[in-house]
Amino acid sequence: MAFYTIEGIDGSGKSTLTETLKSQHKSVIVTQEPTHSAYGQRIRDNIARDTSDAMTNLFLFMSDRIYHINDTIRPIDTRGGTVISDRYTDSSRAYQSVELANSMHFDSPDEARAFIDNMVSPWEYVPDTTFYLDISVDTAMSRIDGKEKYEHRTFLTNVKQQYDIIAEASNHVITIDAERPPDAIAREVSEYIDGPR
Ligand code: ADP
Ligand code: TYD
Repeated sequence: MAFYTIEGIDGSGKSTLTETLKSQHKSVIVTQEPTHSAYGQRIRDNIARDTSDAMTNLFLFMSDRIYHINDTIRPIDTRGGTVISDRYTDSSRAYQSVELANSMHFDSPDEARAFIDNMVSPWEYVPDTTFYLDISVDTAMSRIDGKEKYEHRTFLTNVKQQYDIIAEASNHVITIDAERPPDAIAREVSEYIDGPR
């Protein structure tokens, strides 16, 4: 029936929103990236090390995503179900473009994003709608412990900039003001979700 994704920087409230949607829309299948598969575990192991290689991370996220599409997203969507994924391709476009640029593989995040776009487009299972939880880096930083690989102010500022560009350019991204209380956010997003309650 439909494939929805939720995107935003760390601490933007994706997991909180996903949990609420799951409880409100019983027939919806909720999933996430990195997945709980061996591919997802490999990513978690990798990003637990601050020294992990940017290009390796990009390909690991891609492998996990192809598994996710083949194992979960396409089969459910094809048989008429509704899937909501906490993170998907725009996470790679936003995070890995900054990571690749920082690691000197590219001159700028924009250049890296073009590379990622070319790499993803041929096989992307495009979401019907992506909800982008738009939040300031200050608010996000106040909600997270800042201990994980990507949870740094400058890094997340650059990632947010990429998300803003992606949201502006896409015709399937809906920007949600994520500075509001959780129930206001869930109410707005719920209005877009098909599926019986
Ligand atoms: P993400 O999955 O995007 O990293 P989480 O949903 O885990 O974000 O939220 C990070 C923290 O912020 C959690 O402690 C959560 O309870 C809190 N939080 C989430 N959404 C909101 C909100 N709208 N207002 C205030 N706090 C929130
Ligand atoms: P996640 O567990 O969703 O973190 P959080 O719930 O705190 O947002 O994802 C782990 C990290 O992986 C997170 O910092 C974002 C990053 N990530 C990428 O860099 N690229 C990707 O393609 C994905 C799916 C996640």
